[in-house]
Amino acid sequence: MKGSLPIAVILFFACNVPEQQAGQKTNENTEIENTEAVKAPNTDKAAVRTVSELAVFMRNMHSELKVARQFVKDSVVIPDTVWLDFAKVVEMESTAGMIKDQDHFNGYAQLFLQRVKELKDDPSVEAYNAVISNCVSCHQNYCMGPITKIKKLEIN
Ligand code: HEC
Repeated sequence: MKGSLPIAVILFFACNVPEQQAGQKTNENTEIENTEAVKAPNTDKAAVRTVSELAVFMRNMHSELKVARQFVKDSVVIPDTVWLDFAKVVEMESTAGMIKDQDHFNGYAQLFLQRVKELKDDPSVEAYNAVISNCVSCHQNYCMGPITKIKKLEIN
């Protein structure tokens, strides 16, 4: 029974999938879990894809920045409760094959963390947008898929 199973393909964040091709609304507001149902290649069966620790961390970071964005827009100091421990980004296990040179990745991560620190000290629009542009520069090297989504976090 080819193609008869109603399977939602929830891949819209994946690094190699342009967002336009994928379901945008699907799990935007649902709780983040470590696995997700995907259609296994060349079959009609649902498969469970394990999402890496780093990918889950990134999704959470995305949510945190969304919250921070509102504080910055309102010119209010960002409460400490908004921040995850972003420094953990260098310790997380990533999708196999994604990071071939951990030192190269860590270089981008350190720049990013520096911008985050500056934003914590000074919650200005400039400092905030500098964080977002660092998300994007690392993504240009490692994970193009979510860039459009990340850019929506910018304050114009
Ligand atoms: C140092 C590099 C780096 C920085 C900085 C970075 N990312 Fe990522 N991001 C990655 C990598 C690598 C992945 C792929 C992770 C994997 O699949 O294991 C990823 C994945 C993602 C994903 C997709 C997660 C999924 O569902 O598969 C989102 C969304 C994301 N990042 C958002 C952000 C946001 C927002 C920021 C800034 C606040 C940011 N990233 C900063 C490297 C980075």
